[in-house]
This record gives sequence, structure tokens and C-alpha cells, in this order.
Amino acid sequence: MLLYTVRMVRTMSGVQPTGNLHIGNYLGALVNWVELQKNYEAFFCVVDLHALTQRPDPAVLQRAVREVSIGILASGVDPEKATLFVQSEVPQHAELAWVMTCMTPLGDLNRMTQFKDKSTQQPDNINAGLFTYPILQTADIVLYRAEAVPVGDDQDQHLELARETVRRFNFVYGETFPEPKTVRSQAPRVVGLDGEAKMSKSKGNEVGLFETADETMQKLRGAKTDPARLRKSDKGNPDVCNMFAWHGFFTPQAQRDEIAAGCRSAQLGCVDCKRMLAANLEAVKGPIRERGNELRNNPGRLDDILAAGAAKARVAAEATMELVRDRIGLRKRR
Ligand code: AMP
Ligand code: TRP
Repeated sequence: MLLYTVRMVRTMSGVQPTGNLHIGNYLGALVNWVELQKNYEAFFCVVDLHALTQRPDPAVLQRAVREVSIGILASGVDPEKATLFVQSEVPQHAELAWVMTCMTPLGDLNRMTQFKDKSTQQPDNINAGLFTYPILQTADIVLYRAEAVPVGDDQDQHLELARETVRRFNFVYGETFPEPKTVRSQAPRVVGLDGEAKMSKSKGNEVGLFETADETMQKLRGAKTDPARLRKSDKGNPDVCNMFAWHGFFTPQAQRDEIAAGCRSAQLGCVDCKRMLAANLEAVKGPIRERGNELRNNPGRLDDILAAGAAKARVAAEATMELVRDRIGLRKRR
């Protein structure tokens, strides 16, 4: 009798526990996490070690790890299908990061634009972790020998660096890791309420995943639209309006066509357009908020999910580390 074992291809991704999840995280990454868990062996991680580069207050970090985990689960990541865990509970991440540090030329890190951005954002704390941040990210991915990494387009450079490091490692020590590919969603770069910058917690231009309908409408009121449309009687151009771009993520085509026509003819005002958007956003966020509240009311369940996730991740991680230690010439552990 022939026995076949079918190994599923692996996917891996992470999100930082810095503040609350927003609809950019949801549209750019989480929707794909939910999709990929169906057909891949999935490892999803709350990357608390990465967050240390911002030196968060310990109590704030603890809370953010829980809230972000709740957000991931409430968005539809199913712990029966995917392994959800906290990075620091799998010590192999830090171990492999050191190995990868020794595989990464300084020149490659010097090119990372995120390091430059973060250095400007926190000029009083330009720590070495900020600089080697992409190496830890590479370790996160290759620790699971993952081939698919669902992220927004702000991670392109980090993923390219990960692929280069994998190639270098495989060249030096023999074929060990597959090259990880980026998986893009329909919205790899969601622009924030200001209509200018990428939505991000640090810019304060975000709509939080757990915000109530009222809070969201309040924020949408102040959101930028077509800059040339000053009065309702002015004809607008939906092609240059960020709110119309958001409709693209939440609103069915037929309603979008109506909105576009109403905007161009000045029959539909921006406030009404935003009300429709708020309603469609709420249709997505409402159920997520409800699932989030259920999880918050049952803290033991979250602890169980994260403990089980870490235990599973550690088994997969240790298998890779045994291979890596052998390849690079470290002593076998007994
Ligand atoms: P972070 O909160 O920076 O850890 O990001 C978590 C995930 O969300 C990463 O895959 C990011 O690429 C993605 N992401 C963050 N902001 C956005 C955005 N504005 N548009 C699309 N994806 C985003
Ligand atoms: N750097 C990513 C971000 O800021 C988070 C991250 C850490 C990650 N490790 C990862 C993403 C591994 C994908 C795979 O969004």
C-alpha cells in the first residue's frame, strides 16, 4: 500500500501590536489571511518583538497584544484552521533572527525606506532594532518555510530583502528555504481620511475596525473629498475623490455607479455620499465589532487560543531550527 502525505503550502504573516487595527490593515492584509487559511497551512503572528522598536509602555503593549489578537479573530481568522500566536512565545524567532543577521549585508539594510521614516518619526529613539527590524521579519517568514506572505504594499521592500536573504542562505548552505512571495489584496494601499497619506496609526488618519457607526460617521464628515468641489452645487469628480475610492472597497457596483453619476451632476452631495459609505462600512464592521465584544467577554478563550497557537508554532519552528543548526554547523542538541 502506498501512503501519500500531502503537505500544504505554508503562508505566514504578522501584524504589530501598536494601537488598534484599522480598515487599512483589514483590507490590505486580514482579508487575505482569512482567504489563505482555507487552502494553506497558515501561521499568523502578533509581532510583539517588532513593537519593542518603539519602546511601548509595558501595560500598553500587553493590552495591544490582546486587542490585536481579538481583531484578527473577529475579522475571520479561524483558530481551527490557522495557527495564531504571539511572536515572543516562540523563542526560535529571536534565535533565527540572529542567524539571519549574519546573512544580511549592512548595505541592504541601509536602503530600507521604513528605517528612514521611523527614524524621522522617533528621532530620540533610533535604536539598532529599528535598523535590523527587517531581519527579524525575514526570520518570522522563513522559520515556517512559508511561500506566501499576505501584506500591504508598504512591505514590498522588506519582502524583497527576505527573498535576497533566502537566496544568499541557500547559496551558502544549500537549498534550505523556499522564496517567499508577496500576496496582494484588492487594496494593497488604503489612503487615510486625509486623502493623502497611507492609512496608519501613527498618522491619525485611520478608521478603526472596532469603531462604532457614529464614531466612523463623525470621522467621515471631516474626510477629504474632491478638492475642487467646494459647494454641493459644484460638479464633482469621483476619480480624484478618496471617499469614492473607499466606496470601491465597500459598495456594490450598481450603487457606486449611481453615486458617481450623482457626484458628476452635482445632484448628490458629499455628506450624502459619506452617509452611504458609513452604512456600507458598518455592514462590514458591525459583525466584526460584535465578535470582538464576545471575545473580550471571554478572556480565557483568547488565552487558550494563543497558548495552543504558540505550542503548534513552536513545533514547526523547532523543526526548521534543527535543519538550520545542522546546515550552519551548530552542535546538535541532545
Ligand atoms: P502594521 O500595522 O504596520 O503591522 O501592518 C499590518 C498589515 O497591514 C501589513 O501587512 C501592512 O502592509 C498592512 N497595512 C497597514 N496599513 C495599510 C494600508 N493603509 N493599506 C493597506 N495595507 C496596510
Ligand atoms: N513588518 C510588518 C508590518 O509592519 C509586520 C511583520 C512582522 C510581518 N513580521 C512579519 C509581516 C512577517 C509579514 C510577515 O506590517
